[in-house]
Amino acid sequence: MGNVIILGSQWGDEGKGKIVDVFAERFDIVARYQGGHNAGHTVFIGDRKFVLKLIPSGILRPGKLAVIGNGLVLDPVALFAEIDMLESAGVSVAGSLFISNRAHVLFPAHRMMERMSEGRPGRISIGTTARGIGPCYEDKAGRRGIRVADLLNREVFRAQYDSVMEEKVAIAKAFDIYDGLDLAAIRDQYEALAERIRPMVCDTALMLNQAIAAGKTVMFEGAQGTMLDLDHGTYPFVTSSSASAGGACTGTGVAPTRISGVIGVSKAYITRVGGGPFPTEAMDGMGDAIRKRGNEFGAVTGRPRRCGWFDAPLMRYTAAINGFDSLVVTKLDVLDEFEQIPVCVGYRSGGADVTGMPSTVAEIASLEPVYESVPGWQTSTFGIASYDALPAKAKDYIAFLEHQTGVEAGCISTGPERNQTIVRKGSRFERLLP
Ligand code: GDP
Ligand code: IMO
Ligand code: MG
Repeated sequence: MGNVIILGSQWGDEGKGKIVDVFAERFDIVARYQGGHNAGHTVFIGDRKFVLKLIPSGILRPGKLAVIGNGLVLDPVALFAEIDMLESAGVSVAGSLFISNRAHVLFPAHRMMERMSEGRPGRISIGTTARGIGPCYEDKAGRRGIRVADLLNREVFRAQYDSVMEEKVAIAKAFDIYDGLDLAAIRDQYEALAERIRPMVCDTALMLNQAIAAGKTVMFEGAQGTMLDLDHGTYPFVTSSSASAGGACTGTGVAPTRISGVIGVSKAYITRVGGGPFPTEAMDGMGDAIRKRGNEFGAVTGRPRRCGWFDAPLMRYTAAINGFDSLVVTKLDVLDEFEQIPVCVGYRSGGADVTGMPSTVAEIASLEPVYESVPGWQTSTFGIASYDALPAKAKDYIAFLEHQTGVEAGCISTGPERNQTIVRKGSRFERLLP
């Protein structure tokens, strides 16, 4: 069938954008299934850099179709900022981008409401991207969300908007977070943007299923990562959507029986941005060394990413949640200079081994990682495009990760550019791609 999910296996920023861009060439359609403009997927094409937030990275491949599925939350202002950025860089969006009529619309009032969850005493501040993502999904789950289809019907939209905003203003005033939004001006702005969106809107589930029935292939592009998944991540330090493989089905309307495989993207180490527990965080100078070599700063917010060592028990957990067929290991080159590379092979707590991933933040924060030290290769792997050309110790490191996670590393990335990518011959990864 050739319909493959590619998603983050850690806490996001694994290099999904690069990998989706590299392999989008092989698929007919690239579909995003969750999240919104909290994502920041970086793609380098020569010396041109693109950061995709809401639009699937596949848009950069001429002739491919890109889909914003029903599982996303869509800020039309952010959408058109991104479309304008792409069009001015010569990337054609018109005719290639399709938006689900069932996606939910994100409003400035959602950002206002986020100030309450992030800022009020007694609430746990998550360190969100402050894009209003959580409050928009709250409205969806609360069955008062405004969907793209509603936005396109002026009468329906006006009635819904006025009622939903009246509630938000009342709550915001009561909790002293009201920021004086000009609700009427925003309504007019959204009504105008609705006319720009209209030509791109359709029933994308129907479109995808018809395409699949006609033999076309779809790549599902995850945003965030499994440990940020609303159900399976380090709750409450998560995003508000289903970033794991199951989300690809609910977030696009394509059935599990139509999916051929799931590929997890992982760094050769691990990072996290925002708050929350992080068992293998390198608190000594090593974290700074990784951040510097890996240029680990948020693509959306510019925040320094917290850095740490590859966490095999975490990967065993996310491999089980997603059923990974293969892993893409990115940023191998970032580890080039280390003499020894610690890899977490297990967790202990209170003197006992821990199996699985604990469910509470307190338990995860009290985990003691058990490390094994793997010798570094101390020579450049930057840009290497064939497995055979990797230094022996780098191959040993990859083999160690495979052994520890139980999943093959079918693809290895050695730099941000398209050609700095290794696909291993005879791998399951190679066989999954159309
Ligand atoms: P995403 O959110 O998963 O798409 O990842 P981000 O774009 O937020 O962060 C990944 C960063 O690493 C980007 O700046 C990429 O250009 C860069 N990158 C991806 N793969 C590699 C690699 O193999 N080596 C190096 N050095 N950088 C990479
Ligand atoms: P990509 O797709 C890394 C994090 C935020 C915060 C938490 C909740 O580029 O991998 P939110 O604004 O979503 O409510 O924030 O999730 N977060 C990400 N971290 N990469 C991302 O996306 C992220 N999107 C959200 O930092 O901790
Ligand atoms: Mg990112």
